[in-house]
Amino acid sequence: MAGKAPVLELNDGNKIPVVSLGTGRGTAGHAPMDEVRQAVFWAIEQGYRHIDTAAFYQDEPEVGQGIADAIAKGMVKREDIYVTTKLWNDRHAQDQVVPSLRESLKRLNLEYVDLYLIHFPIALNADGSDSDIDYLETWKGMEEAKKLGLAKSIGVSNFTIEQLDRLIDNCQIKPAVNQIEVHPALTQVPLVSHCQKLGVAVMAYCPHGFLVTRKSKDIPPPQFDDPKLVAIAEKYRKTTSQVVLRYLLDRGLIIVPKSTNQTRLAQNLDLFDFKLTDEEVVTIGQFNSNSRVIIHPYWKNNVHYPFERD
Ligand SMILES: NC(=O)c1ccc[n+]([C@@H]2O[C@H](COP(=O)([O-])OP(=O)(O)OC[C@H]3O[C@@H](n4cnc5c(N)ncnc54)[C@H](OP(=O)(O)O)[C@@H]3O)[C@@H](O)[C@H]2O)c1
Repeated sequence: MAGKAPVLELNDGNKIPVVSLGTGRGTAGHAPMDEVRQAVFWAIEQGYRHIDTAAFYQDEPEVGQGIADAIAKGMVKREDIYVTTKLWNDRHAQDQVVPSLRESLKRLNLEYVDLYLIHFPIALNADGSDSDIDYLETWKGMEEAKKLGLAKSIGVSNFTIEQLDRLIDNCQIKPAVNQIEVHPALTQVPLVSHCQKLGVAVMAYCPHGFLVTRKSKDIPPPQFDDPKLVAIAEKYRKTTSQVVLRYLLDRGLIIVPKSTNQTRLAQNLDLFDFKLTDEEVVTIGQFNSNSRVIIHPYWKNNVHYPFERD
């Protein structure tokens, strides 16, 4: 059964729906586990066909249950749903990758995932201390996962331009995706255009940026009531949140909005009856202040830390 979002073809020929339901319960709030199962079910009911999770979110069982509920009701078949999950930093040894994916699959109650990502280029030991495992070694394990058919596509998350180039120069299978933070206050133009030149699709996490409440001390613009966003929203009879999501789609990105609210879930998928002009895309891009929601400062000493250190 077709979903409401169009699909994009990845560099390995697989197709990915361009709206993915985020299920991470981190920075923007701690949804109770049952809310995740319910949100996944509502999302599929409303026409979402892509769900984003991770071993780190500890919600794979609930994501799997939400999918199983939708399948049991005859709403979709497994092959209609695109599932992304991620390898955590303390499982970066090559021989830990396939076992970690098998554990995720068990929790999800699935035979395969559509996309498996290295969550961060950073490797940690089980006690949280820095490990010196290189992500090039981790990638060999990811390639094994794809060859075994446990992941239809493989990719990375939070990789910089330099890390991506080094990986591509030293791999057998090119990463299909880089999942990174992108929103109006963090437009990531150089990294996004580099990925697009390389044929690596970009998934944009925290797509609402600072429009929604974040723990951060500094709240850069734009916010929900920003006059420039409001003017564009009024023109298209949409919300400012929808304008921001559409801005990301109009840059060719796959968006990962998170909601556990039925109305907002619907709004975040109701994006395909309008399109921004090039000028509007430029206007929204001018909000860029390189402001990150996600920084993980405690990893700053790691040799592969992918964010600014100051
Ligand atoms: N790869 C990585 O390292 C990484 C890092 C961070 C996140 N992620 C992924 O990206 C996903 C999205 O990130 P995020 O959680 O920061 O997403 P987000 O969509 O930018 O923000 C989610 C917040 O916005 C609210 N919201 C959602 N839709 C709204 C709307 N239409 N109007 C008003 N408020 C709205 C949500 O509240 P309600 O639920 O109450 O609607 C929630 O508080 C995560 O869930 C995770 O899957 C990946």
